Amino acid sequence: MSQTNLGIIVVGAGNVGGYWLDNFAPELPVGAEIVAIVRSTRYLTNCQGNVSNWREDFSNTTQHSPADALAVILQQLEACSHPHKVVLDLTADERIRHHYTDWIAAGAHIISANKYAGASSNQDYQKLRAALQQHQRHWLANTTVGAGLPIQAAIQERLRGNDTIHKISGLCSGSLSWILRQFQASDKAFSYWVKQAAELGYTEPDPRQDLGGHDVARKLTILAREAGWTIDPNDVQLQSLVPPELRQVDLSQFWQQINKLDAYLQPWLETDSAKPMDYLGTVALTNGQLTANAELTSFAADSLFATVRTGDSAFQIYSDHYCEGPLTVQGPGVGAALTASGVHSDVLTLFSELNS
Ligand SMILES: NC(=O)c1ccc[n+]([C@@H]2O[C@H](COP(=O)([O-])OP(=O)(O)OC[C@H]3O[C@@H](n4cnc5c(N)ncnc54)[C@H](OP(=O)(O)O)[C@@H]3O)[C@@H](O)[C@H]2O)c1
Repeated sequence: MSQTNLGIIVVGAGNVGGYWLDNFAPELPVGAEIVAIVRSTRYLTNCQGNVSNWREDFSNTTQHSPADALAVILQQLEACSHPHKVVLDLTADERIRHHYTDWIAAGAHIISANKYAGASSNQDYQKLRAALQQHQRHWLANTTVGAGLPIQAAIQERLRGNDTIHKISGLCSGSLSWILRQFQASDKAFSYWVKQAAELGYTEPDPRQDLGGHDVARKLTILAREAGWTIDPNDVQLQSLVPPELRQVDLSQFWQQINKLDAYLQPWLETDSAKPMDYLGTVALTNGQLTANAELTSFAADSLFATVRTGDSAFQIYSDHYCEGPLTVQGPGVGAALTASGVHSDVLTLFSELNS
């Protein structure tokens, strides 16, 4: 093993970050070590790879402002004497992506589970790509779609094989799939299953994030960019499952009027379980023209999208080489363990790239 030294700054120690610190950090290769762990208002610095008691160590830290916690990342990068450095963005905070270019300029590679940088506006995305190019840094983000599923890896592999991708479609929202399947298998209203999903923690705190299709738009944007296509998240045509009058009201009013979803969606909701329905996202490049959309779709009962297990993600890639039947990636696409495992795979990929 080469003596390359990789200093790791972990930003976010929630479900995914916590799982990675507990289960994968102890398995880091010789030469890679954690130098800091940063949470929203607390941080551990100068760790020198010794993070086995990180939870207890955090309980002995003092609370700071979120801005101070973020400032520590740059300080640690500047103080870090390791020849190579990486920041793991394991937060769900939209604002974090605005710091990537500073971290890159300070010498860091980036690994993200956080989707927001990959799904930022075309202008911001191009700025980030330019910074990576200028400073010759790597950015790996294989868990941003489908958690541990190798969907981005499948796209990269097709492109390396000189294949031309024409279309990618998939069930990208575990929460919408769960709600729709429960709805179709029961005689209860759609709004009932939205409430159940929220109570079980399957939706965002504001379920309109899921029902509006915004999360699916982010994932389609990331996949399209992986395929080398230029796209802005606003280019994705979304069927919102939220009635117009409930889109701007505050969350408590949304919950009070949630029954309005049932009448609004009635024309689209398929109650015939022989015609399974899901929220399908598709992005395609045809004759140089990019189209991207996400909407309620019914499938033939024996089709892939009808038969995936509840909560699983499934993707199909159509290309020159996969024109008669698509390349399919499917399986559980959510969960801290799978995501942390995918993050670890990105860390090892970076480590071996830096050693090659
Ligand atoms: N869970 C999954 O199945 C899954 C799958 C694929 C991708 N992801 C992505 O993985 C990321 C992490 O998900 P999660 O479920 O672990 O989230 P989480 O449990 O909410 O944890 C988020 C962590 O980020 C920290 N944080 C938030 N804002 C911060 C800030 N401004 N500066 C520093 N730290 C900050 C939080 O700090 P505190 O500890 O102080 O609250 C917390 O430790 C998300 O982007 C999610 O979309 C998750």
